[in-house]
Amino acid sequence: MNPRVTVIGLGYVGLPTAALLASRGMAVQGVDSNPAVRATLAEGRIHITEADVEALLERALRAGLFTLHAQPPPADVFIIAVPTPLGEDHAPMLGHVLDATRALAPALRPGNLVLLESTSPIGTTARIAALLAELRPELTDLAIAYGPERVLPGRILTELVENDRVAGGLTPEATQRAQDFYRLFVRGEVVGTDAATAEMVKLAENAFRDVNIAFANELSLIADAQGLDVWRVIEIANRHPRVQILRPGPGVGGHCIAVDPWFLAHAAPDAARLIPAARAVDAAKRAAVLDAASAICAGGERLICLGLTFKADVDDLRESPALDIAAELARRHPGQVVLVEPHLRAAPPGLTAPLVSLEEALAGPGALLVLTDHAAFRRIPRAQRAGRRILDTRGIFRDEESP
Ligand SMILES: NC(=O)c1ccc[n+]([C@@H]2O[C@H](COP(=O)([O-])OP(=O)(O)OC[C@H]3O[C@@H](n4cnc5c(N)ncnc54)[C@H](O)[C@@H]3O)[C@@H](O)[C@H]2O)c1
Repeated sequence: MNPRVTVIGLGYVGLPTAALLASRGMAVQGVDSNPAVRATLAEGRIHITEADVEALLERALRAGLFTLHAQPPPADVFIIAVPTPLGEDHAPMLGHVLDATRALAPALRPGNLVLLESTSPIGTTARIAALLAELRPELTDLAIAYGPERVLPGRILTELVENDRVAGGLTPEATQRAQDFYRLFVRGEVVGTDAATAEMVKLAENAFRDVNIAFANELSLIADAQGLDVWRVIEIANRHPRVQILRPGPGVGGHCIAVDPWFLAHAAPDAARLIPAARAVDAAKRAAVLDAASAICAGGERLICLGLTFKADVDDLRESPALDIAAELARRHPGQVVLVEPHLRAAPPGLTAPLVSLEEALAGPGALLVLTDHAAFRRIPRAQRAGRRILDTRGIFRDEESP
């Protein structure tokens, strides 16, 4: 029989998961502490941008397989998918996870499975177990495990099913129970391990991306200092059979890769040297882009900032280097900067430069600062770029220019 599932935290991870489980016939009870989120979802609309989730939600609501709650109701399986932001000194803040744990404690029944899916520092699953043991000491047969997400925004529903997944229990039985549950909807392999290993796996994945992007960005800074084209250097170096250098950019964004490496570094500050160094390279790259663009403005030129989101063809501004750089340029050079972001209808609050359409921006003079590699920018005709100074942090205009 299908398990009844309570999902706590209905954001980018929790909502698609809840909708997918309901589409597989499970009765899903969605819990979110934000009443506005609950109200939106109750109307069959979604508050995140993610393809096909709204259609699944609507169907689940109509079938009576998805209900909304302020407090967790009893279930067979509890999934915690609340935020885990960074606090002071880059320390992970576990307040939401611990609040969710306290909230679900009264709903627990013997033999329940509790799955933590929030990206978490090593030891968090054990902390949840200790808190539950304090709150519900009579429940000695709970199965508690960590089951992190590796989904890519924009492809979440597909990746929830197709990606391999790790399930790490606090006991071998909990690992098995978590694997059995994920196998109900995951087509990829569900790899079993212990909870702490699973926690470190998730952090290692995002730190890997961060360190490797920092390497590409450091190469771009060195190449600039040497007057060399970093894109050509990387293109040729990647012909080595065991070399795969990533693409440079204006810095790393999004709420995962720019954040999670700190969870690892924080766990063992004396051992973690490369991870904080990668974060420092990221800051240096952002500063270098800012200085180069600022120098153009200092010469009196108008500057057209192309892109504010953290990556191509999405509307996500979280930890976006493009947004930070554009905001600072607008502040430093009032009246000289215009912003183009085809994925936003209005400028984010606090920006002091106007948001204009691409056509409007290109109708006038001005240097181009490419901050995001949106498809719309790749299509800017050569004629509209001719004669302008171009700072292309994403290398989007390079391919056609290479010899
Ligand atoms: N977004 C991604 O692509 C992604 C990928 C992998 C892992 N993660 C991790 O998953 C976790 C959740 O991320 P997200 O992007 O879904 O966050 P989100 O901000 O999109 O959504 C979180 C939701 O949880 C709710 N919430 C907060 N505290 C709560 C509480 N105590 N009880 C009930 N609801 C609560 C918020 O109102 C919000 O709607 C984070 O740890 C994140 O790092 C995210």
